Amino acid sequence: MARVFSGVKPSGKPHIGNYFGAFTRWAADQQPEHIYCVVDLHAMTVPYDPAELRERTVDLATWLLATGLDPDVVTLFVQSHVREHAEATWILDCVATMGELGRMTQFKEKGGGRDSVSVGLFNYPVLMAADILLYQSEEVPVGDDQRQHVELTRDIAQRFNHRFGETFTLPKATFPTSGARIMDLAHPDHKMSKSEDSPQGTIDLADDEATTRKKIMRAITDSGSEVRASEDKPGVTNLLDLLSAATGRPVADLERDFEGAGYGDFKRAVADAVVERLQPVRTRYAELRSDPASVAEALTKGADRARSTAAATMVDVRAKVGLTA
Ligand code: TYM
Repeated sequence: MARVFSGVKPSGKPHIGNYFGAFTRWAADQQPEHIYCVVDLHAMTVPYDPAELRERTVDLATWLLATGLDPDVVTLFVQSHVREHAEATWILDCVATMGELGRMTQFKEKGGGRDSVSVGLFNYPVLMAADILLYQSEEVPVGDDQRQHVELTRDIAQRFNHRFGETFTLPKATFPTSGARIMDLAHPDHKMSKSEDSPQGTIDLADDEATTRKKIMRAITDSGSEVRASEDKPGVTNLLDLLSAATGRPVADLERDFEGAGYGDFKRAVADAVVERLQPVRTRYAELRSDPASVAEALTKGADRARSTAAATMVDVRAKVGLTA
């Protein structure tokens, strides 16, 4: 049984990219050695409002429970509740290099070369490495945009093990067959993201059914009328990927189904499938919202469990790097 770890950042609202890229796989196969984390410390790397962060952290945990994560089986917790994440980050900071962090695509995109960005934004992948390595994780189920960060985590773990002796398991990222990179519906050349820049192109989990349908029906398609995935058809390709993620059917089968059909019928089918997948999650979320005590209880239990594993790793790490007991 592989030890699995993954996380999600409470910045912006969770959307269907998060759901199909990550959450749905977390809920699909639940085992006691699977650990999921709401990474609130990562959300502090860009300017934010403290009250909003508190609210979003609980809200995101509520969405994860609504997807079906069972806190009696898996460990679900909030990153800052386990102090070892911050401690391990410092130690790994002394192993990671400026050069490798400077090469991270997300840092280059978000930092935009500005001197005013926080050191935390630069250091972001080291905190992520700490998250993964503290639990000796073998698999990290993520969307495609996290590939580079997990590879860096492996490099840092390998260097640490080489320098101080065998300590960390080397993790590997796993990706879904479809939905690994859901694109913005209004700008299919951009990844769908939590930023509020493109409300028409992003389907939030919290959107209602009518809004979900409207956004899909208005999604940018391409010239021509063929429902076929190809590089020169990013809009249709994205909708096919989304339909494949929502139905579990391969894109090739879907292309066959829609041979000769128009974009209108195709988009209606995508909307139906997405609405159908999200409906139970949305209903469960509404129920859980009225029971915040059960969410808090799940998170307390999760943090207790996570802490015991993380603390054990840190005893070993502290000894290996030469810190006194
Ligand atoms: P975050 O919060 O941006 O996204 C959470 C998960 O959703 C996936 N994802 C997508 N998948 C498909 N299409 C999209 N458009 C899309 N957008 C997001 C992400 O790949 C991710 O799996 N740094 C991470 C959080 C993190 C983490 C970790 C993940 C912190 N520590 C340790 C794994 C292990 C992040 O910001 O994800």
